[in-house]
Amino acid sequence: MADNPMYKLTYGLFVVTANENGRDNGCITNTVGQVTSEPERVSLTVNKSNLTHDMILDTGLFTASIISQEADLELIKRFGFQSGRDADKFADFDSIRRVDNGTLAVTKGTNSFISAKVCQTIDLGTHTMFIADVGQTAMLNAARSADYAYYLEHIKPQPKAVGTDESGQTVWRCMICGYEYVGEELPEDFICPLCKHPASDFEKVTAAAVPAGVADNGKIIWRCTICGYEYDGGDMADDYVCPVCGVGKDQFEKI
Ligand SMILES: Cc1cc2nc3c(=O)[nH]c(=O)nc-3n(C[C@H](O)[C@H](O)[C@H](O)COP(=O)(O)O)c2cc1C
Repeated sequence: MADNPMYKLTYGLFVVTANENGRDNGCITNTVGQVTSEPERVSLTVNKSNLTHDMILDTGLFTASIISQEADLELIKRFGFQSGRDADKFADFDSIRRVDNGTLAVTKGTNSFISAKVCQTIDLGTHTMFIADVGQTAMLNAARSADYAYYLEHIKPQPKAVGTDESGQTVWRCMICGYEYVGEELPEDFICPLCKHPASDFEKVTAAAVPAGVADNGKIIWRCTICGYEYDGGDMADDYVCPVCGVGKDQFEKI
C-alpha cells in the first residue's frame, strides 16, 4: 500500500443523498470534488450497482453532506454497509434537513452540505460520473472534514491480524474497507462486496494465524464474512441477522 502512489491521493468522505418518487436514500462515497468555480460545479462518481446511482441518474439531483471528524462508525454503516434496496436508511434517523432540490442533507457527523443538479453524465463502465451545478450550500459546524485516511485510521473497525483461517486458507483483506476474503487465490475480477473496490485493492494478510475462535465466555465465535462483525453468543438462531451489515446466518463462519 505504502509503495503505491494511487494511495497518496487524498479524498474527502460524503453522504450522498437522493430522492425519487418521495423516497429518500443515500450512500457513502469518497468521490465528490470541485471541477469549476464559475460556474460552481462539482463531480461525483457512483458505482452503477448502488441504488443511489439509479436515483441520481433518474432525477438529476443529489446532495453531498461532507463527513466530519465527529462522525462515528454508525453513520458509515447506515449509509455505506447496506443498500437502500434492502433497508430504509432514514428509518429512525432524524439528523436531517430537507434542502432546495428535495433531497435530504445529513446534519450529524457532517460539517456542511452542497446540493446539486446534474448537468452532464459520463459513463465510466462500472461507474457513472455526474457533473453538477451547485445549488443550496450551508455550513453546519466548525468540525474538520474527515478525509479518507482519517476514516481508515480512526473510524473504520480495525481488522484482526489474521494470516490464515482455521482451515489454513489464506486471507485477503480489502485495503479500503477491511473486508476479508478467504481463499488461496483472490479472483482477478473480484469486487469487494462492501465498498465495491477491485481485487487490486486487496492485500494478502501475512501475520500469524489467530488461535481457534473461542470467546472469554467459552462460546464459539462466528465472524460475518461480509463485514467482519464477530458474534460470540454460541449457537446462532436461524433468523439471526448481522447487526452491522444485515446479512443472514449463512454468511457467518466459525473462526
Ligand atoms: C468508506 C466507504 C467509501 C465508499 N466510497 C464509494 C464511492 O466512492 N463510490 C461508490 O459508488 N460507492 C462507495 N462506497 C460504497 C457504497 O456506500 C455502498 O455500496 C452502499 O451500500 C450503496 O448503497 P445504495 O445501494 O443504497 O446506494 C463506499 C463505502 C464506504 C464504506
